[in-house]
Amino acid sequence: MKNRSPLPIYTPQSPSLPNDKLMYKNTKPKNNTSIDDEQSARNVYIETYGCQMNVSDTELMSGILSQAGHRTVNNIDNADVILLNTCAIRENAETKVINRLVHLNHRKRRNEDLIIGVCGCMAQHLRDKLLEAAPYVDLVMGPDGYRDLPMAINAVTTGDPFLSLQLDKNEDYADIAPIRKEGIRAWLTIQRGCDKMCTFCIVPFVRGRERSIPLDILTDDVKRLVDEGFKEIVLLGQTVNSYNDNKHDFGELLWRVAEVDGVQRVRFTSPHPANATDSMIDALENCPQVCKQLHLPLQSGSTRVLENMRRTYTVEQYRDIVYKLRERVPQIALSTDVIVGFCGETEEDFRQTYQLMEEVRFDTAFMFKYSDREGTLANKMLSDDVSESEKARRLNEIIDLQEGISADINSASIGASVSVLVEGKSRRNDEEYYGKSDTFKTTVFPKEDTQIGDIVEVKIHSTTAHTLIGEIA
Ligand code: 5AD
Repeated sequence: MKNRSPLPIYTPQSPSLPNDKLMYKNTKPKNNTSIDDEQSARNVYIETYGCQMNVSDTELMSGILSQAGHRTVNNIDNADVILLNTCAIRENAETKVINRLVHLNHRKRRNEDLIIGVCGCMAQHLRDKLLEAAPYVDLVMGPDGYRDLPMAINAVTTGDPFLSLQLDKNEDYADIAPIRKEGIRAWLTIQRGCDKMCTFCIVPFVRGRERSIPLDILTDDVKRLVDEGFKEIVLLGQTVNSYNDNKHDFGELLWRVAEVDGVQRVRFTSPHPANATDSMIDALENCPQVCKQLHLPLQSGSTRVLENMRRTYTVEQYRDIVYKLRERVPQIALSTDVIVGFCGETEEDFRQTYQLMEEVRFDTAFMFKYSDREGTLANKMLSDDVSESEKARRLNEIIDLQEGISADINSASIGASVSVLVEGKSRRNDEEYYGKSDTFKTTVFPKEDTQIGDIVEVKIHSTTAHTLIGEIA
């Protein structure tokens, strides 16, 4: 193992003003190190954990690395550099990465030159503490540091670990061209950071302040994605519908993206109920390319708990949004996030969550036990006082409830036709394709003469809680 001197903390320079970004699009990136000779080019393997935003950040990292002359590889055995792009949202996300690092250290023992890096939210959250847990890590880089990747890879070969942990409210990477896997669905980050300050959430602390990428840059990106063959664009942001580039709001953005020639479908994730404006609902109702599907995180069915979470809406306001959406877009599919066992959540609060889920009948839900995160407002101000076993009981109750509701809603579509964008071969049967319906339900059907990328009508004959099964209508 190499000898290490005290840790230098590298502070990147502030990126240039937004106007300059247009000049940089698809040109040589700012303050990046390019590789002069083939020998310094490294094979980089990136493993992604957590949300879709991290998947999109991995594509960004691949773009930065390849512009500097490095190669991203799919086989870890060919890697000179292994980067973990991590998540900090719940404790188990971080535990998973620590366990993975222990495993990767065995590789490093066999190959001293192997560079191991931890990037993303967990890097930003744990900072140099990560090096106490895993001293063999060479590189610790937060979500605003990715421009430094090529330089960092060069720097760590001298022996010292490299830390890039400065959050930068101007960094939006708008000038970088991400490298995406081929497919029919492209993820497009339209906003970085979060200004909401929910008390349970680590995101504002590890991703910094909210910033929106100018709409003209985004529409140019979308044109390029269509040229590359993507049919469906998924707009990404931490609270995606608070998008505002000082000239356009989220509703306008939806229309402008949908109007790009060749865009067949537009989705977005995750919106915040407080920003469910009429302009967003109007686009959902009237813009044919915008899919009739909304993921609207509820978190709790008790207004008292919502207040403690600082969600900035009441249960009544949430319910009003749901009723308005269903009135204006009757076929809309709704999904949500729910946390059980938040600080101070009583049995009565929990029952209100259960009852609201029974009342709203979400198509699907992502359900979590509250996980206390160091650095959050709840960690500082509130007590994590619901026992682990009680959290588990409450979670199981709502999972059972939701499974039944999802199965019921899906079975109600038997006999109906849904339009499906064909994505690929089904895992179980080579003669079947799968794709997503407009409402984001996985749908499986015999191929016949359809092609990947087609939108086809599928008549549903059977269902499970998570899948629709049918035949070309
Ligand atoms: N504990 C449990 N779940 C959390 N989430 C965010 N922070 C926490 C936490 N500390 C959930 C929320 C959010 C989703 C992405 O993760 O439901 O909407």
